Amino acid sequence: MIRKGRAIFVDTPTHARDYVGDGLSCSNCHLDAGRRPNAAPLWAAWVRYPRYRSKNKHVNTFTERLQGCFKYSMNGKVPPADAAVLVALQAYAYWLATGAPTGADLPGAGFSKQGFKPPQPPDYTRGQKVFQEQCALCHGDDGQGQRVAGRYVFPPLWGADSFNWGAGMQQLDNAATFIKANMPFSRGGTLSDQAAWDVAYFMNSHERPQDPRFTGSVVETRKQYHATSMSLYGVEVNGHLLGSAPANPAPQ
Ligand code: HEC
Ligand code: HEC
Repeated sequence: MIRKGRAIFVDTPTHARDYVGDGLSCSNCHLDAGRRPNAAPLWAAWVRYPRYRSKNKHVNTFTERLQGCFKYSMNGKVPPADAAVLVALQAYAYWLATGAPTGADLPGAGFSKQGFKPPQPPDYTRGQKVFQEQCALCHGDDGQGQRVAGRYVFPPLWGADSFNWGAGMQQLDNAATFIKANMPFSRGGTLSDQAAWDVAYFMNSHERPQDPRFTGSVVETRKQYHATSMSLYGVEVNGHLLGSAPANPAPQ
């Protein structure tokens, strides 16, 4: 089950096909197969749950936390709590956390976004320049990633095959901290704080699949679920109201 969990984690579209609606794998964001500090590693996550989440305003079990990943980051379907996919992912996380103290917030947990602020407000035009110079080589000029034999070798940053508007990565602070620590790939830590925020702003100024909690109105959905300066959902950028023309999920 541990091996199965790892396989699901690093190639989610293949091993959890029924529950995935985009082109991503868990390990595209939780780097090094869920082991890398400051990329929300599984060993640190396991010992934090059950935990209160402001996102759904109750105490979440680890199972429920994983279900949320499928709904938002994977733009897919929520596996039932006893689905083999979830049991295997938990076995893998449990194993990675061997010996870790329970209930602890371990160094390297999550994305360490506390206190990471942009020197100046993030800017689209500056972010576009960072993207062209530092990201497009791998993620494509259009941010749609690159595939080999139908599989993404560089994941899409926005559009129909990327995470949806409900995912953690659409929040600017999560994206900026992730990018600062980990991108460009294998050269983490090389962007200035400002460049990381600017390019996070640029990335999240593009359409992606609709928030599954969509109420029928972008304004209302923003009010209920995105009432923070860290989300661009329902914000007008370059004359376009984000969330109003969401990218449709690609046919599977
Ligand atoms: C697009 C990037 C992305 C993908 C893909 C993704 N995640 Fe995450 N994940 C995040 C972000 C961002 C957070 C933190 C959200 C927050 O704190 O608001 C997170 C949080 C988590 C947590 C909680 C971490 C903690 O320390 O509390 C777990 C567990 C998790 N993800 C598992 C998964 C699994 C399993 C998959 C695949 C089925 C997955 N994630 C896919 C971005 C992603
Ligand atoms: C050398 C190639 C390369 C460059 C350059 C690069 N990335 Fe990535 N990026 C990757 C790879 C590969 C992954 C997936 C990592 C994995 O699966 O281990 C990734 C993952 C990501 C993810 C999480 C997955 C997703 O699709 O949302 C984001 C966000 C991201 N990159 C943003 C950026 C930004 C912004 C830049 C420019 C500052 C950048 N990357 C530059 C290769 C690259």
